[in-house]
Amino acid sequence: MKPAEPAASSAPLLEVKGLRKHFPISEGLLIGRKIGEVKAVDGVDFTIRRGETLGLVGESGCGKTTTGRCILRLERPTAGEIRYNGLDIATLKGRPLLELRRRIQVIFQDPYSSLNPRMKVGQIIAEPIRAHGIERDRARRAARVHELLSVCDLDPAFADRYPHEMSGGQRQRVGIARALALEPEFIVCDEAVSALDVSIQAQIINLLEDLRERFHLTYLFIAHDLSVVRHICHRVAVMYLGRIVELADCDQLFDNPQHPYTQALLAAVPVPDPEVERRRAFRPLVGEVPSTINPPSGCTFHPRCPIAVSACRQARPELRELRPRHWVACGQVDWPFERHEFAGIRSPPKRAVPPPPNKEAGTQQHEQNGRIRWDRGLGCRRLVLLRR
Ligand SMILES: Nc1ncnc2c1ncn2[C@@H]1O[C@H](COP(=O)(O)OP(=O)(O)OP(=O)(O)O)[C@@H](O)[C@H]1O
Ligand code: SF4
Ligand SMILES: [Mg+2]
Repeated sequence: MKPAEPAASSAPLLEVKGLRKHFPISEGLLIGRKIGEVKAVDGVDFTIRRGETLGLVGESGCGKTTTGRCILRLERPTAGEIRYNGLDIATLKGRPLLELRRRIQVIFQDPYSSLNPRMKVGQIIAEPIRAHGIERDRARRAARVHELLSVCDLDPAFADRYPHEMSGGQRQRVGIARALALEPEFIVCDEAVSALDVSIQAQIINLLEDLRERFHLTYLFIAHDLSVVRHICHRVAVMYLGRIVELADCDQLFDNPQHPYTQALLAAVPVPDPEVERRRAFRPLVGEVPSTINPPSGCTFHPRCPIAVSACRQARPELRELRPRHWVACGQVDWPFERHEFAGIRSPPKRAVPPPPNKEAGTQQHEQNGRIRWDRGLGCRRLVLLRR
């Protein structure tokens, strides 16, 4: 079952307009001379409503992480606007930027390298609370850490462990607890489940959904695994070479992709059913991703596009809303859409996984609202698994 979608009328929490991030390439040891630039993000537009999960997908190097880092203001954008709650944060400095850091947090892909190995879990989670001066009393800070660990389905006793004394899934829960420490509104999940095995992935995805509902969070969900994206996201943006080429509601994008790149991306995912495989209309991508230093002219996808025409080499197609909530950047696609017989990626069926690490013996697994939950007694329920 899909997570409940926020009301269509709710105002955007985040508006990104014409975002660009170009990294200079320089040569010379002492006086660096600029000889070019990597156009990591080259004109990205999208909005995210409060309570929504927007998926960001695309091949490696297309600029997903850089987009997320610009929103987090870990990178200063070269150009463009990032409006958060109506305020342009692209050029924010000093105290307002510090305030913003409380409201926007990140969950990284590799929980091991994102946690300081010399600090205990309790210190790692307490650090942002201390640094932002939210809770100066040591005992109350420790109580808050224990609460955050429980919220993330970890035993509060884990506060005394070092990251290397935990499994990958447990470390990722610590990363989530740390991200929640400042009570953020918006979280950038950058490949947050990519490094985990499938059953742990399912637990973490359930936890993220549970937290989104419980704390009214909004996510930018950057991922490679399209079945995970289909499962968790309300809308999906497809990126290619620093730009968004298609953006639509999740089911619409997976069932009726219009941009040749989206079609190729979906076709590259194997479906374990020979009948479905035979019916699949699109061919996987060929050729290498072009250089972001010197991208192709016109539509940057033209060297790999199976339906390219000569006009595609001249002008770069704009992202156009061809039908309500479905945006496509391709000069050859227009409304009414061609209906493709595309047997794409489905959310896999649910299957049981072991309970999370701090579940006591005797907890009962049962289904509720299409999700598999574990009943921990006294009416206290935590999500464990949703799918697979
Ligand atoms: N600090 C930097 N300096 C120079 N180039 C950079 C820097 N950070 C990223 N890039 C380049 O920007 C491009 C986009 O990188 P980014 O990490 O955003 O891609 P990505 O879509 O997240 O890839 P992946 O899926 O592999 O994580 C790449 O070509 C990368 O080499
Ligand atoms: S504009 Fe041309 S090259 Fe680009 S995706 Fe469309 S058909 Fe292909
Ligand atoms: Mg990345």
